[in-house]
Amino acid sequence: MTKELPKDFLWGGATADFQYEGGYAEGGRDPSTHDYETNGSPEHPRHHTMKMPNGDTINLKSSFLDAEDVPEEAKPVWLKDQYYPSHQAVDFYHHYKEDIKLMAGMGFSVYRFSIAWSRIFPNGEEDEPNKEGLKFYDNVISELEKYHIQPLITICHDEMPVHLALKYDGWSSRKVIELYVKYAKSLFEHFGSKCKYWLTFNEINAVRGFGPSGVHKATGLRRYQAAHNMFVASAETVKLGHKLIPGSQFGTMYALSTCYPATCKPEDVFHNQQELRENWYFVDTMGRGYYPRYADEILQHHGIKGLSEIKMDPADQQILKDGQLDFIAFSYYRSNISKAGDKWFNVGGSANPYLEKTPWGWGLDPLGLRYTMNMIYDRIQKPIFIVENGMGAIDKPDENGFVEDDYRIDYLQKHLSAMADAINIDKVPCIGYTMWAPIDLVSLSTGEMKKRYGFIYIDMDDLGHGSLKRIPKKSYAWMKHIIETNGKALDD
Ligand code: BG6
Repeated sequence: MTKELPKDFLWGGATADFQYEGGYAEGGRDPSTHDYETNGSPEHPRHHTMKMPNGDTINLKSSFLDAEDVPEEAKPVWLKDQYYPSHQAVDFYHHYKEDIKLMAGMGFSVYRFSIAWSRIFPNGEEDEPNKEGLKFYDNVISELEKYHIQPLITICHDEMPVHLALKYDGWSSRKVIELYVKYAKSLFEHFGSKCKYWLTFNEINAVRGFGPSGVHKATGLRRYQAAHNMFVASAETVKLGHKLIPGSQFGTMYALSTCYPATCKPEDVFHNQQELRENWYFVDTMGRGYYPRYADEILQHHGIKGLSEIKMDPADQQILKDGQLDFIAFSYYRSNISKAGDKWFNVGGSANPYLEKTPWGWGLDPLGLRYTMNMIYDRIQKPIFIVENGMGAIDKPDENGFVEDDYRIDYLQKHLSAMADAINIDKVPCIGYTMWAPIDLVSLSTGEMKKRYGFIYIDMDDLGHGSLKRIPKKSYAWMKHIIETNGKALDD
């Protein structure tokens, strides 16, 4: 079966503002929750740096899987001896023209990027949006238009103005729903005529804790209250977007790297099914417009009696129904395994012994992508959009800065082939594919620069030193050819 994809298939790449943009204090932007996060590594987790009322500074693990609770009285601070990668990131803020030209050179038809909430509403509570912030994204979108690349905008990628985290405890407060909808409305009014595809949130099933959700407590009732408030905010935004932008299409993005049962022992298979519902809880509620029947059971794993403990407004049910998503967007990087008796997780699991791994221990599983695409469509029957997939690797440039990344080409060849099979053989409707991340940027989980994903190398190290020069890797030309042939060359 051919790997050539339907004519209107969208090819592109994806980035997030605080990992890519930099310019953290420019253009009237206020700090966001990630601006207080240090760099790290697999051995040394990233931290939020905070000051207590008595002047003591504390470091709290910030990486979302093991985020530590933040004391309510702590205030974020920047410490002189720490490096905060989001401040410069890789400086898209000043390189956007050059970067978009490079993306266009590969033939991208779509570019997924997130808007920094604190660039548009610096503290989140202003009455009017910040003109300079809007102007920056105007410039980005005009540049995209020049090359016929359409934007796919993530309204909120795992962050918020830090003021909202401190004043309202982030998403655990309903007040933030209103402020988010106001923010989204200003984006629709400003960019609506130029953008058809929108994502209300990034990896909503994975976000927790201070950095991604502004909530001081990473687990338990407050986390699931925050999730409910985000569901309502998303649904209200979808409704509003449909009204203000005719023809607009809305998704939310889920982390759906999959997890298999460790064995065919019925107890392991059953345990795995139950755990996967930790993710389906989010997809089902937003994709179908109502909480799934197993919701109480999931909540009980987190010390919550059930949905009756979550504060809801009487109108919420109807809002969820009216604001269902048009498509399901997801990230897929790897697969894991789980078995009966394993520690209950949300997004996680143990390593699959059948798979090769990246230096960061992520198991390489192209067929898992096809499996995941089928799982989603069988369940929700709405088009899907692969908005993140890629391989973090250590690249070794030669003396001219050129990287021969055959391992990345191999990863993409196999994953894109599996994707083409899901589309052409299994008939899963898929809008497009945006590879994470076309240009090297800062890793979310470790804050490192050496965990590189791009087709384009950036001369910068883990501490932000380097010329920031952009240099296409071997995979750049390879991907250009794949896009030119609309996937047909995957057969070569
Ligand atoms: C997803 C996020 O979790 O995975 C991105 O949406 C992130 O922000 C990507 O960068 C890859 O993860 P990491 O930790 O390798 O950067």
